[in-house]
Amino acid sequence: MRQQVVVGLDVGSSKAGAVAAAVRPGSIDVLGLGLSPATGLRKGVVTDIDETVDSIRRAVREVESSAGVRVRSVAVGISGAHIESFEGRGAVGVRGSEVAYTDVKRAIEAAGSVYIPLDREVLHVIPTGFVLDGHEGISNPVGMSGVRLEAKVHIVTGAVSAIQNLLKCCEKSGLDIADVVFAPLASSRAVLTAEERDSGVVLVDIGGGTTDIALFRGGNLLHASVLGVGGGHITNDIAVGLRVHMSEAERLKRSSGSVAMDRDDAEPEIRITQAGGQVRTLQRECLVNIIQPRCGEMLELVRAELKRGLGYEHASCGVVLTGGSALLEGFAGMAEEVLALPVRVGVPSVAGGCGAILNNVQFATVAGLVMHCPEFDRPRAVHPVSSNSLFGRMRHWARDFFTTTDTLSIDQEYNKKGESHVRD
Ligand SMILES: Nc1ncnc2c1ncn2[C@@H]1O[C@H](COP(=O)(O)OP(=O)(O)OP(=O)(O)O)[C@@H](O)[C@H]1O
Ligand SMILES: [Mg+2]
Repeated sequence: MRQQVVVGLDVGSSKAGAVAAAVRPGSIDVLGLGLSPATGLRKGVVTDIDETVDSIRRAVREVESSAGVRVRSVAVGISGAHIESFEGRGAVGVRGSEVAYTDVKRAIEAAGSVYIPLDREVLHVIPTGFVLDGHEGISNPVGMSGVRLEAKVHIVTGAVSAIQNLLKCCEKSGLDIADVVFAPLASSRAVLTAEERDSGVVLVDIGGGTTDIALFRGGNLLHASVLGVGGGHITNDIAVGLRVHMSEAERLKRSSGSVAMDRDDAEPEIRITQAGGQVRTLQRECLVNIIQPRCGEMLELVRAELKRGLGYEHASCGVVLTGGSALLEGFAGMAEEVLALPVRVGVPSVAGGCGAILNNVQFATVAGLVMHCPEFDRPRAVHPVSSNSLFGRMRHWARDFFTTTDTLSIDQEYNKKGESHVRD
């Protein structure tokens, strides 16, 4: 049976990760994972092209050998403080007696046709609902009778330079770009349940250099923002506070770090190797006293963002915390206190193939990238959209919105492009 092999590539501030998966509608077989430390990004944005290319090449080489595939094109995740998102609305007159696919498409185009400065690029136009002759809350108006159709969309944009530099790194690594996906949109596929996405949930992905915050409700992304803080700041504080190298600070954070001291701590003392090579014994409390305020500060920033743009009131399912920093001992508990919302840690659960290798909060985005692809989605009338003018915005809109015979030619065109990774 023919199947698509899809490759997701997440180039984060601390690691590049690539996942290859054989995908059919509704089912995924993970074939392999490639990982490499990333040193060419700061706060999610490329600052050194050569180092980033090197990280990508190593991750891709590893996934090729573990999955036994040749990687030609990838769906790449993007984040960084340059990302912005806002709402758009657009209305059209219905041409026939009832709403047709083309009317929906025109309404979405009208809603997405907002002024975007030249230095910004639209990444996604996500339909969040339709209004037909003043009646709100319509999710799929096709076939309904009406005169005036209005589309509500959520538009995600990024800085052209940041997007192009990331794509340049992929291209210099010999890869074609199948799609560019805002990282939390991908992560949400891997760590949120359908019920959470429907009832209202905030996804908080705290990585090495960024904190992605995204509100989902009614199955859609309703608001998103990215803060330029992450676990790297905690490591840096430890390095400065204890006068140790960054690698030693990272080791201490992972092996003995915590946001609070346990009353009956099993490890009251820790051994540290200082920059000059001297080994010292230290009260673990000193390490905790460095970590705690930084984590508190990061969570206060998340809280301020929730209050400013997202609104606590929409998050009836609370917060799902993911990204590598969610592994820090006690962090989820502290988040619950500071954000005053229920918090659970979201670990990707990907069944099929060797999906268990992705059961780690650090792989939320890369796991989500292979689940976000159109090959995985069962046909439905209205999809979230990956639209990017760099790759033909209109073609993507059509591909993602309609999976009927109306767009057969478009799907065929897309599949032709992806033939490089089709296998029997
Ligand atoms: N056991 C652990 N305890 C504490 N922190 C950890 C642990 N394991 C990983 N981390 C931290 O997680 C961070 C990396 O997370 P992740 O892999 O999600 O980031 P990234 O995707 O590369 O970066 P970003 O999304 O910010 O661009 C690092 O700061 C690392 O120190
Ligand atoms: Mg990340």
